[in-house]
Amino acid sequence: MSNQDPTSNATVTPLMEVKGLIREFQAGEQTIRVLHDINLTINQGEMVAIIGQSGSGKSTLMNILGCLDQATAGDYQIYGQSVSRLDADELAKLRREHFGFIFQRYHLLGDISARDNVSVPAVYAGMDGQARSDRAEKLLSDLGLADKVNNRPSQLSGGQQQRVSIARALMNGGDIILADEPTGALDSKSGEDVVQILKDLNAQGHTIIMVTHDPSLAAQAERVIEIKDGYIIADYKNEEYQQVEPQPAPIIDKHRKSAFSSFIDRLFEAFKMSLLAMRAHKMRTLLTMLGIIIGIASVVSVVGLGKGSQAQILSNISSLGTNTITVTDGYPYGDPRRQYNDDNLTPQDAQAVADQPYVVSVSPQLNSNMNVRYRNVQEAASISGVGKDYLDVSGETLAMGQGFEEQSILRRTQDIIIDANANKTFFPDNANPIGEVLLIGSVPGRVIGVLEPNDSGFRRGADSPTLYMPYTTMMSRLIGSAYIESFVALIDNNISSSAAESAISELMQSRHGTDDFRIRNSDSIRQTIESTTAAMTLLISSIAIISLIVGGIGVMNIMLVSVTERTNEIGVRMAVGARQSDIMQQFLIEAVLVCILGGLLGIGMAFAIGELINRIGGDSFQVIYSSTSIIAAFICSTLIGVVFGFLPARNAAKLDPVEALSRD
Ligand SMILES: Nc1ncnc2c1ncn2[C@@H]1O[C@H](COP(=O)(O)OP(=O)(O)OP(=O)(O)O)[C@@H](O)[C@H]1O
Ligand SMILES: [Mg+2]
Repeated sequence: MSNQDPTSNATVTPLMEVKGLIREFQAGEQTIRVLHDINLTINQGEMVAIIGQSGSGKSTLMNILGCLDQATAGDYQIYGQSVSRLDADELAKLRREHFGFIFQRYHLLGDISARDNVSVPAVYAGMDGQARSDRAEKLLSDLGLADKVNNRPSQLSGGQQQRVSIARALMNGGDIILADEPTGALDSKSGEDVVQILKDLNAQGHTIIMVTHDPSLAAQAERVIEIKDGYIIADYKNEEYQQVEPQPAPIIDKHRKSAFSSFIDRLFEAFKMSLLAMRAHKMRTLLTMLGIIIGIASVVSVVGLGKGSQAQILSNISSLGTNTITVTDGYPYGDPRRQYNDDNLTPQDAQAVADQPYVVSVSPQLNSNMNVRYRNVQEAASISGVGKDYLDVSGETLAMGQGFEEQSILRRTQDIIIDANANKTFFPDNANPIGEVLLIGSVPGRVIGVLEPNDSGFRRGADSPTLYMPYTTMMSRLIGSAYIESFVALIDNNISSSAAESAISELMQSRHGTDDFRIRNSDSIRQTIESTTAAMTLLISSIAIISLIVGGIGVMNIMLVSVTERTNEIGVRMAVGARQSDIMQQFLIEAVLVCILGGLLGIGMAFAIGELINRIGGDSFQVIYSSTSIIAAFICSTLIGVVFGFLPARNAAKLDPVEALSRD
């Protein structure tokens, strides 16, 4: 160990002070001591060369001095501050604001230009974008690279790359430049140039610490520290060194931005890096996204299909008349009192319900099947006896002619209304069948109206011809019965249909003294259909969600690969002062970006599928996209990115800088 003390000059302030520093590595069971009791003081403005044989511990010492690594024991103070008490972010701050690293193998980021490489430390320091790129270009042109600012590292020679890395070291000021074998990969001429640049920087006030194993380069430094097997064996001043007056460290205008805009800036930077990474691995990115694409596309299109079919069914129901309550004769199915012949509903029951204030109109109904004949055409048809308000209640409309009047019911007229099927069956060539007479069984009926075609599919005998006549006519002249089979009540829209249902039920109970009737509410049909389609949607959505989770695991897998692949980049970013949160952010953003992009492609695919279905389905079926499901899909894919990106991102952020840097 050296007894020389180069710090006797009291006018210079100690910058770094190392006392009793020990560094041990754990190699399996063994503990290897690489640095033994290092004591060292380095002053501001010095140019120090550390020399020694390979494996003597130069890099290890350098990494500790640069706060990339921590000592096992002993004290290291910088600016009078003990480093062992600083946390990861405070160490990153020291590296960012005071250190500039130059590595033997340059460690530039391969995907970005020289200018952007130089700018990286300033991104983490929060320098304004324009000032950043101006300063980067200025530094590059000072180092003779004015015409190379847009070149990527692979488009530069070794010496040029090393100059880029010197510019990067200076970007945030670089009060202390730490260069580990900066000339190691260069030819002697370029090596000389680099040492000359370092000497010039020293003359400008930068403190330079340079590791080399070349004695002729070391001889150019002001002070030489020699290490052997982890001990300092010599520490002397170079008498020939052209002593320059130590100057205060250059103050650069860092154009600091507010914490928030600096955050946004770093976010944007991380975004840019993510896009570059994705572009570099297009196929891999696409495959990663596939799970997300399929999952999102299926969620969105399933919900769209569900909504579409629901809307179609509901529009069919509403063609039955909105808010109707149907009362049918006989005990409910399964009731032991139920009989085959359950005639117990009378027109008076229907009238009593019609008299209620919440009932708009009532149409009694009874049905039968009979042979109907017109000239030489004979066909089985459904015959329905209905009230004058049948059209209102059923929601059917007339294509021509007129409906029944009060008088038709009272006088039991033999007027009939025919549906479109009957019109087609009996009057295929007659454009206007009004006034024609049909024979229903043996009873003649005169056509007074023709209905519009109704494709609801909820009417009984949807395809067979149907004839309507006043229920009074049907009761007395056609089947000879005093009873009706059912009646449909149209309920005031302002009344809750369930309240109306229980009121009608109560009224009927009191009239009959028992519950010998069935009551059905169009709203409950609606609800049943809604809940059925909702259940279907839920079922298929949960399958889609499983596919999303599988997709998410794929994303996680690829992100872990990406972190491993870019360990060296992470080390470089940490060396230039990236916080753990910056690294975390970068990988999270990448994961989220992959998922969001996958989500958008999935939504696009769902629209394409929907378009196809709409083309095939024509007017009768339309896929209805719900904005909620699209927004939910979007949020879902973002969340998948966050959730499944978290682990890889945290792994990246927790990497040890030295270890990360040493990996390729
Ligand atoms: N992470 C580690 N785990 C175990 N041993 C290590 C580790 N890092 C370094 N060493 C050991 O510490 C010793 C010093 O390594 P260091 O990298 O500091 O040498 P060096 O002087 O920089 O050599 P070179 O001139 O070849 O770069 C070596 O024997 C090396 O094997
Ligand atoms: Mg080394």
